[in-house]
Formats: sequence, structure tokens, C-alpha cells
Amino acid sequence: MEEKEITVNIKKYNEKDGAFWKSYKLSVDKYTQMTEVLRRIKSEQDPSLAYRASCHMAVCGSCSMKINGIPSLACRTMALQSADEKNELNVESMDYYPGVRDLITDIDVFYDKIYQVMPRLIPDDSIVSGEGEQRMTPEDQTEVWKFQECIYCGLCVSACPSVKEDEKFLGPAAHAKGFRFVDDDRDTKKQERLDLLMDSAFRCTSCYMCYEVCPQDVQPVIAIKKTRNYLDDYKGDTPVTIMARKHDDAVEDLIETTGKIKESSLYLKTFGFGEAMKDAVNMFKSGKFKYAFEKDSNVKNMEEIKKLMGEKK
Ligand code: SF4
Ligand code: SF4
Ligand code: FES
Repeated sequence: MEEKEITVNIKKYNEKDGAFWKSYKLSVDKYTQMTEVLRRIKSEQDPSLAYRASCHMAVCGSCSMKINGIPSLACRTMALQSADEKNELNVESMDYYPGVRDLITDIDVFYDKIYQVMPRLIPDDSIVSGEGEQRMTPEDQTEVWKFQECIYCGLCVSACPSVKEDEKFLGPAAHAKGFRFVDDDRDTKKQERLDLLMDSAFRCTSCYMCYEVCPQDVQPVIAIKKTRNYLDDYKGDTPVTIMARKHDDAVEDLIETTGKIKESSLYLKTFGFGEAMKDAVNMFKSGKFKYAFEKDSNVKNMEEIKKLMGEKK
């Protein structure tokens, strides 16, 4: 099979020297995985190179890193396909997690967040004692199946901007795991689970990075949106969920009266005049104040909108 020489630039790291880039050249064919590239670099050129990999088939979740800036599993990435027109590619450790050495990071913070959501089914006592039987329909299983496919690779959390900014946010993987049990009728702790998840669910910015990078198509952002759907029945409000309720009401009110979501009105209705004024000062400083007054007309055929809203109720 035809081979090509590629240059792999690896951002190495150790406590003594800090971070530095080192380049390696080797020949690969179109089926060479990045884990194979790293194995060959380590065994043929640089025994000091540190990285994690085990299954080489996207199952164990251990080979997470950034390849050309994209959070990826090395074993799912073909070297030649990822190389640029000069046949070069860059490999770094994941963002967010503290570096241990080279491509290895310490992902304890990832597991801490998973543990916080009670990541186990807690069934009725009769089931635990073996006296009862609780079945799940195939339809119900389909609903939760996607969210339990996580291989704990940590890529979604490393790509999530909200995790980096907000320490109270549980992060995408923990939300997928937590919601998987909220939506399982065999579980007995739905309310406690919502207490753990609801406030955090509204700290996600819906940027969909977790959706983009997940190698298992777990779609954590969808789990977060589904958790938010429980807000109407949820009793344990926090300042964040109170704001979320105001936001929901404002969206509904705006669509009912204008046919669309007018961003500046939505902001004012959700956060109130005081908060809006604080941000107005920031907008003024950054030269964006003019956008707050952009003219935005109502939808013409409001009768159709009202019919749709009526159908919704
Ligand atoms: S959609 Fe939410 S959870 Fe996913 S990466 Fe963006 S902020 Fe994080
Ligand atoms: S949800 Fe996806 S990206 Fe996140 S840890 Fe699980 S498998 Fe990895
Ligand atoms: S080596 Fe197991 S997921 Fe890549």
C-alpha cells in the first residue's frame, strides 16, 4: 500500500521543562491510526513520549487528546486524513484537565462530576431483595439508551466552555449520565436527581460542542434540554431556575404578541431593568450598544401564530 511521510508535531510537557513542541517524521498509509503513529514514535524514536491508549477501537476512552486543535480519540483518527497539505499535524493534550506528562492529563475532575449525579440505578427494595421484577419496554429503553453509551473519554468536558467558566456546572457527561436515570421508570430517586441536575442544566450555553466532539454520539446537550423540560413540575427553585422560568415566560409572551423572539426585549424581560442596564454599559464600552435598538418588526400574519400557540396549549 502506498505510504507517505508525515510530520507529527507533539506538544510535550513535564513538570521540570514545562510545555514544548517536538517534531517527528514517519511513513504511514491511509489506514494508520493516530494511536499507531504514537506507538511507533515511542518505540522507534522517543521512548520518553507519554500517552494513554488501550483498546485501539474507540471503546476504552483512554486515548483522548487534541489533534489539529480538535478534541478527538487518537484511535478513531486516521493520520493521513488529518494531515494538512504539507503532510503535517499537531497533537496536544486535552484542554481543561491538568497536565501530567506529554499527552496524559489528570481527569479526576471529570469523574468527580460524574459521581455527583448518583450514576447508578437505585431501584425499589423489592427488586434489590430479588422479590420483585421490574421490566422496561423496548420503547423506554430506546429513550435512555443513547445517554448510557458514554465511554468516559472526557472529550466533551474538555471542549465545553461552560465547564471552564462556571464551577457549579456539572458538565455534559455528568448530565447525560444523570438524565439517563431521571428518565428510567425503574429508578426511585427522580426528585433527588432533579435536585442535583436542574440548576446545573440551565448553566449550559447550548453551544453544541459536546455534541460535535463525542465519539459515541451520546448527545449530552440533548440530555440537558430534556432535563430542562422537567422545569414545570420541579419544586426546588434556585436563583438560576427562577431566571429560567422568567426566560420561558418571556419567550412565550414574545411569540404570542409579536410572532418572534426579539432578543433585546427577551433580555429585558428575563433579567429586568437593573441587570440590563449593567450590560448596557458593557455594550456601550464595546461599541455594540446600537444593536440593542435595532428595529425588529412583528410577524405579519399573527392569526396563524395565535392558532399555533392555541394548539400548543
Ligand atoms: S452544549 Fe452545553 S454542555 Fe455541551 S459543550 Fe456547550 S455549554 Fe457545554
Ligand atoms: S459523553 Fe461522549 S464525549 Fe463525553 S465522556 Fe462520554 S463518550 Fe466521551
Ligand atoms: S484506545 Fe481505547 S478509545 Fe482509543
